Amino acid sequence: MNTAAPVLSRRDFTKTTLLAGAAAAAGPLVQAADSPRRIRTGVIGCGSVSNAYLPVLTKSPFVEVVSLCDIKPERAKRQAERFKVANTYPNIDAMLKGVPFDFLVVLTDMQVHEEINRRGIQAGKHVWSEKPIANTLAVGQEFLRMARAKGVRLWGAPITVQSPQFAFMARQLQAGALGRVAAAHAFYGHEGPSWSAFFYEKLGGSMPDLAVYNFTSLTGLLGPVKRVTAMLSIVTPERTVDDKGRIKVAEEDNAMVLMDHGNGVISHVQSGFNYFNPHGHEGRNETRHTIQVIGSKGYMGLVGYDWEPLGVDLATMDQPALKRHQTDAQGYIWQQGAALAAECLATGKELLVTPEQALHVLEIITAARESAATGRRVDLQSTFKWPVV
Ligand SMILES: NC(=O)c1ccc[n+]([C@@H]2O[C@H](COP(=O)([O-])OP(=O)(O)OC[C@H]3O[C@@H](n4cnc5c(N)ncnc54)[C@H](O)[C@@H]3O)[C@@H](O)[C@H]2O)c1
Repeated sequence: MNTAAPVLSRRDFTKTTLLAGAAAAAGPLVQAADSPRRIRTGVIGCGSVSNAYLPVLTKSPFVEVVSLCDIKPERAKRQAERFKVANTYPNIDAMLKGVPFDFLVVLTDMQVHEEINRRGIQAGKHVWSEKPIANTLAVGQEFLRMARAKGVRLWGAPITVQSPQFAFMARQLQAGALGRVAAAHAFYGHEGPSWSAFFYEKLGGSMPDLAVYNFTSLTGLLGPVKRVTAMLSIVTPERTVDDKGRIKVAEEDNAMVLMDHGNGVISHVQSGFNYFNPHGHEGRNETRHTIQVIGSKGYMGLVGYDWEPLGVDLATMDQPALKRHQTDAQGYIWQQGAALAAECLATGKELLVTPEQALHVLEIITAARESAATGRRVDLQSTFKWPVV
């Protein structure tokens, strides 16, 4: 992803609904939709992805960024200067004791989200977490119970189900445009991040970093997964990264995951850090169909990546020539999730993104690891409300 180019527009909420349950959970922060208040927000983790989040958060009418935190304090200070944020802290303890805030946005290394999200919820903060929310389904479900008990909300990236292209595809499937849906395939890969070791350390890997987008899109389109079979490998055993130099790769950098959605529908996701890609981390120039859905009477291909989709090509028995639809992003950008969550807290407008789906996707990842380690098919326990509309 290109974190250097902030895009400032905001998702059009026309297809979202005002849910009384959300208003109740968000408690005193909810006001009438015509007089939104700014949600006092603290951001932890001021590395690469903060370059994409902070321009959106600091421009949102629903957000007041009051503090930044990073264990590399110079990073928090640099971003505070750049984005005019008054307070910086060198760790979560100092941040929680510092200037008050209501909403914690977690952009740290993947491995520490669990620990930081727990601290945030315990302290009574609403939490937006980059992926994953936790390291296991059990802990993630514990977080949901804790959040309910505290009257706070919890969300996690990615937000691919918020895009108008996802909505178009979901509508076609619900309307039966593809006939009897049989199969789907999705892929996301590049040559791997070069800046931080955590992507390659235990609990890192291409699945929680890249395949997570495709898992979110495909479960959103085809429904929760019943069982998973996977093969995983490490193609490049050693790498050089900016923060730690030469490192050993401890988690998969090549993943092939088969998912059974029930009713005969089978999908496949592949991800990796060894994929030659002429466009690198840049999404806008990717024009292949990275998601393909095939049924008895039609075919649908998502143009570009699901996190930065460019359109949907559709062919059906009635109209067999591929026709392109939904080329307008309508304000959707992948890095707006935390700003949308703040809007939800301020106005009560619900997101299509749910923590239940994020935890289901997490369970797909842990099940894929178990399947690869044991050579067996692994049944899943979790589910989420579907269809996502
Ligand atoms: N970089 C991207 O383009 C991108 C895009 C989408 C999602 N993400 C996700 O965002 C997260 C962060 O990725 P990144 O690329 O920004 O990594 P990064 O290494 O550039 O930044 C992570 C930052 O978190 C800080 N940090 C680590 N542990 C901390 C702690 N305990 N307390 C406070 N700060 C701590 C680090 O010092 C670092 O500055 C990951 O979950 C990643 O998957 C990244």
